[in-house]
Amino acid sequence: MDQPLDLAALRAQVDTVLRDFLTGKAAAAAVQHLPQEAARALADFLAAGGKRLRPLLCVLGWQAAAGRGPIAPIIQVGAALEMFHAFCLIHDDIMDNSASRRGQPTIHRALAARHADGRTQAAAQRLGTGTAILIGDLALTWSGELLYTADLTAAQLSAVLPLVDIMRTEVMYGQYLDLTSTGHPTDDVERALAIIRYKTAKYTIERPLHIGAALAGASDPFRAALSEFALPIGEAFQMRDDILGVYGNPAQTGKPCLDDLRDGKHTTLVALALRHATPDQRRTLSVLIGDPALGEIAASRIRRLLTDTGAQAAVEQLIQDRWEQAEQVLARAPFSPPAINVLRELAHTALARKK
Ligand code: IPE
Ligand code: IPE
Ligand code: MG
Ligand code: MG
Repeated sequence: MDQPLDLAALRAQVDTVLRDFLTGKAAAAAVQHLPQEAARALADFLAAGGKRLRPLLCVLGWQAAAGRGPIAPIIQVGAALEMFHAFCLIHDDIMDNSASRRGQPTIHRALAARHADGRTQAAAQRLGTGTAILIGDLALTWSGELLYTADLTAAQLSAVLPLVDIMRTEVMYGQYLDLTSTGHPTDDVERALAIIRYKTAKYTIERPLHIGAALAGASDPFRAALSEFALPIGEAFQMRDDILGVYGNPAQTGKPCLDDLRDGKHTTLVALALRHATPDQRRTLSVLIGDPALGEIAASRIRRLLTDTGAQAAVEQLIQDRWEQAEQVLARAPFSPPAINVLRELAHTALARKK
């Protein structure tokens, strides 16, 4: 494939695979008198939005490595990655106790509300959480099914499976690091960077590119070149998310903007603020960040402090540095030229995004 990829057309193709797959799952459940709610909730979740970055990067990784042959299996692997991402988000929203995602109530909240009749609020919440865990588990299971039914050759499958295992493990360790650091953020910027590398950078940018390249039979050095581009972009992507998680507009992001502060997430933003704060500022930040009852007024105070300490500007600078680093990699990378241009464009939109 020597033409630049049409990203909008690719997104539509990925969405068709996902929609048809879930329609099939709901129909199969109906035949066996099993609940259709899970497949339907997942279909609604996917239809509500999402940038589809991971599937696009998978196809771009394949193109970067000069992949030849039919593109349909590559698109289905991309759809498997999006299904895996759905699993990550559904469980993340339970772990982060988030109320909204993609402009809708999160799945655990929506299911609690749907099954509220005749139950106490606590029982409905438990049911919402339990069923959302199961829907996340189904998304994880079904991402595997999408992968092994993608009509890959034996060589493609054996190249991809170890990478998928690594990707799953990395994100779970990343989430583990995130959770165990939540509630007592410190000025340890390195730790914040390790968290974002594992919980986001790898499964969002690096591994989708690797998986796509592996489908094209790429070598280890080629994968290493992809990592050189992917990891700075992936880290910058999560730093943008952290900025949007505090300063973003929920009407645009579709996500709440108090959660990270209320939970006391150990983000680069907070770590840098604690590092550069005066003793007075540090005391205020320590009292306010992680307060479960944090309201809008206190959140505004924190936002001001994050700005006054220079932390917000410092994170913007880290994003910019990583962007420039990735640009330099692209300038000398062994990737196919049409892929390079689209990678540059996609990375730029992912870092400059408002949602
Ligand atoms: C959100 O990912 C979670 C992170 C890893 C930051 P995205 O920003 O890719 O979410 P969608 O798919 O576009 O909703
Ligand atoms: C992103 O977690 C990583 C995963 C979902 C695996 P966050 O908790 O930082 O992301 P948002 O802001 O909820 O999307
Ligand atoms: Mg979250
Ligand atoms: Mg989280």
